[in-house]
Amino acid sequence: MIKVLVVRNYEEVSLEAALRIAETVKSKPDAVLGFATGSTPIGCYRELVRMHRMEGLSFSRISTFNLDEYVGLAPDHSQSYHYYMFQNLFNHIDVKRGNIHIPNGMAKDLEEECVRYEDAIKQADGIDLQLLGIGRNGHIGFNEPGSPFDSRTRVVKLSEQTRMDNARFFKSLDEVPMYAITMGIATIMEAKRIILLASGEAKAEAIAKAIKEPKTVMVPASVLQDHSDCLFIIDKKAALLL
Ligand code: F6R
Repeated sequence: MIKVLVVRNYEEVSLEAALRIAETVKSKPDAVLGFATGSTPIGCYRELVRMHRMEGLSFSRISTFNLDEYVGLAPDHSQSYHYYMFQNLFNHIDVKRGNIHIPNGMAKDLEEECVRYEDAIKQADGIDLQLLGIGRNGHIGFNEPGSPFDSRTRVVKLSEQTRMDNARFFKSLDEVPMYAITMGIATIMEAKRIILLASGEAKAEAIAKAIKEPKTVMVPASVLQDHSDCLFIIDKKAALLL
């Protein structure tokens, strides 16, 4: 069953998420953390940076795995998820570069890159805490509606809605990549603990469907109903239809 924590606003979503990540790192300094990108986790990352700077929270022994990356964007492209993670988090904390894992969307052999990524997660003994956002269509990672629940890390085609949602970060819709590498639904479900964040009315429908309706591949986040330790931290607006 999905546990739900409804808070007042985006700031509180960010703080509650950061507190739980900090607790995890304190109780298990070599924790394996799964990170997401997008606009939602930015406040949480900002809070983690603050905790590192002001409270001495150390990330020196953690390992990280990101959910996804666009195909064809170099790590230094301003819209790549590599760039995002370094800008918003990694450049400002003491995580070891060698412990950071993000799918390589520039790999010559993308299939091989997906297999390598899955192996790296296994080698690390799995993900202790996976942070997720949710798309308006219920996607998690880049697992769009219709993604099989047994899917693993793979190359996927982005839906038009997702490309349009993300176009605001690019000069034009044409520049938004068509493909991405994403952890699969089964990969995400193997994380020992999952925290999904959502803020704002635009997410209310996806949140309601994920929690209240029978699980279906058409709402990928609904699979989380089967996870044994999954918490949604959402604000009042995202909880509007619950
Ligand atoms: C990003 C990711 C996506 C986003 C989702 C919501 O790594 O996996 O599933 O979490 O698209 O994005 P925002 O937070 O921008 O609304």
